[in-house]
Amino acid sequence: MPESFDLRSSRTDGAPHTISLLVPELPSQEQLRPWLERIDANRWYTNFGPLVKVFEERAGRFLRDASGRPLAVAAVCSATLGLELAISQLSLPPGSRILVPSFTFPASACAIARSGHVPVFADIDPESLTLSPTIAERACAQQKIHAIMPVATLGISVAQSAWDAFAQDAGLPLIVDAAGAIGNQSVGDRGVYVFSLHATKPLAMGEGGLVVSSDRSSITRIKQLSNFGFDGTGITSAIGTNAKMSEYHAAVGLAALDSWGAKARKLQNLLGAYRNLLAGVSDSLRLLIPAGDLVLSSLVVQIDSRLRSDIEGIRLSLADQGIQTRRWYYPPLHQQPAFSDMPTAGSLEVTEEVAVTSLGLPFHTFLTRTEVERVVISLKRLVGL
Ligand SMILES: Cc1ncc(COP(=O)(O)O)c(C=O)c1O
Repeated sequence: MPESFDLRSSRTDGAPHTISLLVPELPSQEQLRPWLERIDANRWYTNFGPLVKVFEERAGRFLRDASGRPLAVAAVCSATLGLELAISQLSLPPGSRILVPSFTFPASACAIARSGHVPVFADIDPESLTLSPTIAERACAQQKIHAIMPVATLGISVAQSAWDAFAQDAGLPLIVDAAGAIGNQSVGDRGVYVFSLHATKPLAMGEGGLVVSSDRSSITRIKQLSNFGFDGTGITSAIGTNAKMSEYHAAVGLAALDSWGAKARKLQNLLGAYRNLLAGVSDSLRLLIPAGDLVLSSLVVQIDSRLRSDIEGIRLSLADQGIQTRRWYYPPLHQQPAFSDMPTAGSLEVTEEVAVTSLGLPFHTFLTRTEVERVVISLKRLVGL
């Protein structure tokens, strides 16, 4: 078994071994047992059961809004379906145009298209790497946009108070895809925020999502839609789906919340180790994250633009040395076959530059300090440092 990342441990087994990109850490059998025993006693397995209720209530306190108030939460079976429900409850006319960054995981745009709407791909801000209110304002001045979906890409939180102000001034609905940003993203007064609880995320339950808002009525509608659109009297009052979270998933989520502090610290320590090893290498290898004690589930470096044509070679050389990496997010969505005929909002030059110069590095709680050093030394060598 690999040692947990604790800044002290190192391997002594000699030969180079594969360093995996992602290794999920989910609650152990022991941590799960008390919650599973409750399911046995309740004999209630899904349909808004008692564990889901406790999980939603604890998640609402855990996330809180910017002023510290607990939030309304709907626990769902994935962030992707959570995004679809957050869009559906807006009751936009079919074919509405929703602004979304192209530099994101496909789920953001899939949720828009599967809800019967059109993703309009926007650029990202070169500093925050997210769609910014300034970019959104420019897009809205140039074409009809019915709603906005900023994305907390790579776990980097979006500017919540700026988005609150934008949504108010523009009078547009806001859905924040905060899938990878649990622990980093605060939730504003406006809009609906969606977090992923996928196995690779910091609060991991295998599959799952949290749809969160300060607006309780939006969350009530989302819960109805997650249960076929039933209105509470057995009448289908809207076209919904089945996106409910089962009691077994809630058990994993509750055990994950119980051990959140320890896991968050490991991820923060790991980020600190990468930051130290990459400190002072200036623009040749830039960590694509802002300062702060972030809890991340992935880590991306940007390589000097002059080496852009070598990035695939760098990835393959690292793979030859047993170091797994992934080109997040390449190609950007507007260049992928499923989305290539969808509209864009102006030039996407920052997206295209970041997409061809970025590489996701191994990032998980089982990495050792020696492995992190091996990754950074190999990478530095390959970029000529
Ligand atoms: C930005 C973004 N949105 C949505 C998702 C989808 O989340 P889920 O796997 O919970 O559906 C992901 C998954 O990694 C993501 O990174």
